[in-house]
Formats: sequence, C-alpha cells, structure tokens
Amino acid sequence: MGRLSVHIETFGCQMNVADSERAATRLRKGGFEISDSADSADVILLNTCSIREKAEQKVFNRVGEIKSGRLGKHPLVGVMGCVAQLEGEAIFKTSPSVRLVIGTGATDRISNLLEKAVGGERRVIDIAERKASEDFQISSVERHSKFIAFVPIIEGCNKFCTYCIVPFSRGRERSRVAYDIIEEVRRLREEGFNEVQLIGQNVNSYRPKVESGLEAYGGATPFSKLLRAVASTGMPRIKFTTSFPRDFHPDIVKAIDEHENLCNWVHLPVQSGNDRVLKVMRRGHKVDDYLARIDSIKNARRKISLTSDIIVGFPGETPAEFEDTLRLVQESRFHGLYIFKYSQRRGTPAAKLSDTVSEEDKSRRFLALEKLQMSIQREIYQSYIGEEVNVLVEGLSARSSEDLTGHTTCNKVINFRAEPGLIGEIVKVRVTEAKTHSLFGEV
Ligand code: SAH
Ligand code: SF4
Ligand code: F3S
Repeated sequence: MGRLSVHIETFGCQMNVADSERAATRLRKGGFEISDSADSADVILLNTCSIREKAEQKVFNRVGEIKSGRLGKHPLVGVMGCVAQLEGEAIFKTSPSVRLVIGTGATDRISNLLEKAVGGERRVIDIAERKASEDFQISSVERHSKFIAFVPIIEGCNKFCTYCIVPFSRGRERSRVAYDIIEEVRRLREEGFNEVQLIGQNVNSYRPKVESGLEAYGGATPFSKLLRAVASTGMPRIKFTTSFPRDFHPDIVKAIDEHENLCNWVHLPVQSGNDRVLKVMRRGHKVDDYLARIDSIKNARRKISLTSDIIVGFPGETPAEFEDTLRLVQESRFHGLYIFKYSQRRGTPAAKLSDTVSEEDKSRRFLALEKLQMSIQREIYQSYIGEEVNVLVEGLSARSSEDLTGHTTCNKVINFRAEPGLIGEIVKVRVTEAKTHSLFGEV
C-alpha cells in the first residue's frame, strides 16, 4: 500500500494555523503524505474553532459536505482543535462519519492516533493534556507562507473572561522557553523568512518558568525582554498578537521605539466601552485604563497602528451602555476593528446570564458600530496617501494579475503594480490611493 495522503483544513485563529503546521510536520515524519486537495485525500482532518456558535456550526456542515460530496471511496474524517477538545466523544454521536477526535493537547500524538484509525480502530479519541515537554518543531515546508512564520510563544489562557470558551478549549497558560523561541526565529531568518508573528491568546502574559535565554536582555516584563531578544536576531519584521489590555506594559512601546524591526502595530481588544459591562465580562480593565494604555501607544516614536475587537449585545448591555462603546471607538480611532455579536458559549460564566439583547438589536448595534468605524477608518487610510511604507510582498493580488499584494509593517493590506519577481522581498511603496480596508501604491 502506498503512503496515505492527509488533507488538513484549518478554521479559527493563528494558533490553529500553527497547530495545523505542527500536525503536518508530525504526520509527514510518521510516514503520511500531506495533500492540498480535499477531493483526492485518503484522510481529511478539520482543525476547528469554537469561539462563536457560527464558527462551530461550520465544522458540522463541512463534515456533512465531505460525506455527501465524494462519489468513490469516502475519506477517513477526523476532527481536531477546539471543538474536538470541548465536545470529545459527543462528536461521534452528532457526526457518526467522524472516526478520529484529536484535542488541542494531542497534536504531538497525531501520527500514532491516525495510524490506529487507519489500522481499523473504529473510533479513536485523545483529549488528554499535553506532555510537559511539548515539541513545537514545525518544518518550513508545512508553513502557511514561505516568508511569514507564526511562532507560538504562549498557549492557553487563564483570564476566564466570562463570555469566552478559550480557557476551556485551550487550557491553562503555558509559556514556551525563551531560548527555543529565539533559536526558532534565528533558524527562520537563516532559511530566508522575512517576518515572524509571535502568537498567543495573550502574548504579554508571557511568563516562562525559567528565564533561560532572556538573561542578557533588559525590560520590565518577560514579554518585553523577549521582544528585545527576538529583535536582536535581525529578523527584518516582527509582529505579535494578541495583547491583553491589563497586562500591556508601556515597556512594550519602549521596545518598539528601540527596535526598528519590531513592527508598528498593536492589536489590543477592548471588548466594550462601558465599565459595568467590562466588569461583568471580567476583563480586568476599565475604560480609563484602556485609554491610558493607548495613550502610551499613541506617544510612540513611530506612528503605531492600533486595532481592536468589540463584542456587541453582551447580556444586559443597555442602549446607553452601547452608546459608551460608540464613544470609545470615536475617541480611540482604531486603524481596524473586528466587531462580533455576542454568542453564548456553553459552560462559560456568561451563559448563566440571560441573553437579553435580541438578535435584531445585536444586528442594529453591529451596523451602527461598523458605520462609525468605517468613517474613521476611511480618514485614517486616506492619511497614508503620499507616505512611503515598508511592504513584505506576499504574492499576486486577488483582484488583478498585474498587481502584487502584501502587508505594511503596520499590518495594512496594500496592492501595487510591480514585477512578480519581487514576491518574498521587502520593498518601499509610495501610497497613492486609499480604500477603507486597503491601500494602493507604487514601488
Ligand atoms: N485573547 C484575545 C482574543 C481571543 S478571541 C483577547 O483576549 O482579546 C477573539 C475575539 O473573539 C475576542 O477578542 C472577542 O472579541 C471575540 N469573542 C470571544 N468570545 C466571544 C463570544 N462568546 N461571542 C462573541 N465574540 C466573542
Ligand atoms: Fe478569551 Fe479573555 Fe482569554 Fe482572550 S483573554 S482568550 S477573550 S478568556
Ligand atoms: Fe477558535 Fe480555538 Fe482559536 S476557539 S479562536 S481556534 S483558540
């Protein structure tokens, strides 16, 4: 029998992207082929997300599609990631065609698990914890991009915001050893990667058990030391996400000021502009704390692009409290904003509160906030016209085959006319036009 081919589909956040890359690395080592095609693969693995009900629903729809879509031999279907961790055995009941359930702690064991299923075991499940010595190795061929690498630095979450499923699907915070992170970035640099994104549910809560690898670097927190250490590898562009307001130390801004290769972009989700709502969400910050944090960001040497997340229609959110959110958005002038309608997650503390805001009101608030943000964003994007920005060229633009596309250091999408030979390079682009979600320019 030839090598079996495995196709992995990824939903959800960057952590899932990184986990899929790790899974592919383990599987190839274990003797499997990794395939880009869902139509011909022997095995399809869905790496899933539970953050909102819609995200979760996608997976079950996809399982149905796979089951009915194939005329010949059905592929072996497995579910991994956050839905797998949370639902466990129940997945076999809801989706009887699924034969493999791999929790978020079992990525390292994926190859053995798949072998069992291929060998004939009808239902294979592993939702146990991670091993203490987690293997974070990702081989470069499995990375989602040849130029940008996601590097997990902290996994899991201890914050327990009352609406959020992540502490349950990902478990407690675990920080990777700094030395390993720095070595990985060095290797990526040698292999020609031009950007790394340090990822974690809360990167600024980074707190390794021992600070080995950081001794030589100054800084007020382990995370700001890590930033300086990673900057010293010479990697041209370093981004990090997500930041948690309560743990966002101003020393992070200082580190960005000191190192040109620490990119001028901070994603700092605020969630609401009302203190009562923030308290019930258990975010650990008030509106004024948030404004103070972003003041430090706005006073940086370079212009730092600030982006955020907001939940509308949290249980009990009154129209007046929502107005407070509008005011905060007006004042903060985010360069980008992800707006979400509150979605009740089973087992979270907020699920005990009654979901008082109607679907219509959630939609109305969503649209009002979006409209406000669009008008602000249009102005901000316009203000870039005439500026020269530093761009990592990622590929051909989806719109026109003559244009290339990439991201600025401040994480904005920019398209521009240039030769495809520049793909993978860092170029200077002069901005000539601005839309609400992207810039256009010339090299
Ligand atoms: N760790 C990050 C965010 C992780 S989830 C942080 O603390 O900000 C990404 C975003 O999804 C969150 O910022 C929040 O805005 C949104 N989100 C999380 N749970 C949600 C829920 N139950 N309903 C709606 N949006 C939610
Ligand atoms: Fe969820 Fe809050 Fe943790 Fe972010 S900080 S992952 S919103 S519990
Ligand atoms: Fe989703 Fe899990 Fe990430 S719930 S957002 S894939 S941590």
